[in-house]
Amino acid sequence: MKTNRRGFLKMAGLAGAGVMTGCSPSSGSREISAETVTYALDTIRQQAERKYSQTFNMSGYCAPKLDVVRIGFIGVGNRGSAAVERISRIDGVSIVAIGDVQPDKAEAAKKRIKSPGHEATLYTADDEAWMELCRRDDIDLVYIASHWAMHAPMALYAMEQGKHVALEIPAATTVEDCWKLVETSERTKKHCVILENCCYDFFELLTLNMARQGFFGDIVHCEGAYIHDIMESLFEKEKRYDYWRLKENAKRNGSLYPTHGLGPVCQLMNVNRGNKMEYMTSMSSADFMLNKKAKELAGSNDYFTQFVDNPFRGNMNTTCIKTQTGSTIMLQHDVTSPRPYSRIHLVSGTKAFAQKYPLPGKIATGHDGFMSEEEYAKVEKQYTPAIVAKIGDLAKQIGGHGGMDFMMDWRLIDCLRNGLPMDMDVYDAAAWSVIGPLSEWSVANRSAAIDIPDFTCGSWKTNIPHDIELQTGGTTGVLNQDN
Ligand SMILES: NC(=O)c1ccc[n+]([C@@H]2O[C@H](COP(=O)([O-])OP(=O)(O)OC[C@H]3O[C@@H](n4cnc5c(N)ncnc54)[C@H](O)[C@@H]3O)[C@@H](O)[C@H]2O)c1
Repeated sequence: MKTNRRGFLKMAGLAGAGVMTGCSPSSGSREISAETVTYALDTIRQQAERKYSQTFNMSGYCAPKLDVVRIGFIGVGNRGSAAVERISRIDGVSIVAIGDVQPDKAEAAKKRIKSPGHEATLYTADDEAWMELCRRDDIDLVYIASHWAMHAPMALYAMEQGKHVALEIPAATTVEDCWKLVETSERTKKHCVILENCCYDFFELLTLNMARQGFFGDIVHCEGAYIHDIMESLFEKEKRYDYWRLKENAKRNGSLYPTHGLGPVCQLMNVNRGNKMEYMTSMSSADFMLNKKAKELAGSNDYFTQFVDNPFRGNMNTTCIKTQTGSTIMLQHDVTSPRPYSRIHLVSGTKAFAQKYPLPGKIATGHDGFMSEEEYAKVEKQYTPAIVAKIGDLAKQIGGHGGMDFMMDWRLIDCLRNGLPMDMDVYDAAAWSVIGPLSEWSVANRSAAIDIPDFTCGSWKTNIPHDIELQTGGTTGVLNQDN
């Protein structure tokens, strides 16, 4: 059955569900009335309090093994085209389709394929061609790297068409869509994997294994962040499709990109697998930069007039989360202040402490300062998890944010080929992403606390942590580097 796109988007509850325009399926801007804002905030609250009964537990779910994983990519701009290249270096995959509304992007992505035997058909006719790609019956996995507003609609549709999904971050921008991802993944028994690459960075994996082995004792507090000065690029036409990221930052005030900082610490705290996030509060500073810049540019370029006096997000957002075990998380978001890149990645336990940024990563066991290089090297050797020992060096050679991107892709494909549970399942996708809209609600309500939905419906109590020791799997090869 051919589903009309607008009908599908309506069915998926995607129209007007976010606080501002960031959630509209196109990346376009529009005027928003005070009533609409109030309605959207109320919707966030209602959806956060929603009662739901799990129909099937996707945590730990083993889908049938796939000898060869047949993949269709949607959205091959900066990120998606690099993914095409990385995936083409992995054994046991077949890239059968590439979709992008910009034909030149799809063609360029196809040229980045690094191994023979992939007959990728391009889907570029219009902004609905991705649906045709999803309807093919010879695709196992749809890999989505479009702009944020389209992540959930594309993922939902792909799962409805019987495809596993891997989608870029955040998985969704509304609470409602987070629930829909969970419901759909459970009903279709299709994996919905969030592509949180930072969970595969080396220091993050090291500290995860240290936490699992008890090095930190009880985890008291963790911190994470996305502090990345992309100020200039937000206003560059060529940088991203239709200024989508500027539009998100112009209309939504909160922790817009929570998962880089949050994913790794949630894994470390066993969130959704023995622990859960209970409630949170969020505060934003004023916007000190974006409106000023929009006004300045509007003086010479009419295009930017639409952004003048928009309700831009504050420069710095700080969100605090309490978990069921009593530990806390502090999460920050700042994409314009001129300061060094940081995801913080701080772990504070009853026995030890670690902090990644400012680089290099550091470890301490008391108040006298950090370990020496020799002591650090010893700990690193002892606690490096098997996944890093197996694929870490190759991943570094292939690259992608220093290797973590490749390690993530390789693990995704290896799990699908071996019929293993996903490291980052639909509950992680929903829980890590929902912090975005919940922070919008809290910011708009003088930082009042809001409950974080339990997308696992209580199964967090028995779900088991994902495998970083490659107890099973690890059988997928990597193709020659010299291509
Ligand atoms: N994990 C990371 O480290 C990381 C890094 C960068 C970007 N990202 C994420 O990747 C995603 C893409 O970011 P980007 O920088 O590549 O943006 P981009 O604008 O370069 O790419 C988005 C692509 O989606 C395409 N697209 C838009 N609408 C479409 C439609 N209807 N059908 C088909 N294609 C469509 C655009 O033409 C564009 O090529 C975002 O979600 C971003 O957050 C993640």
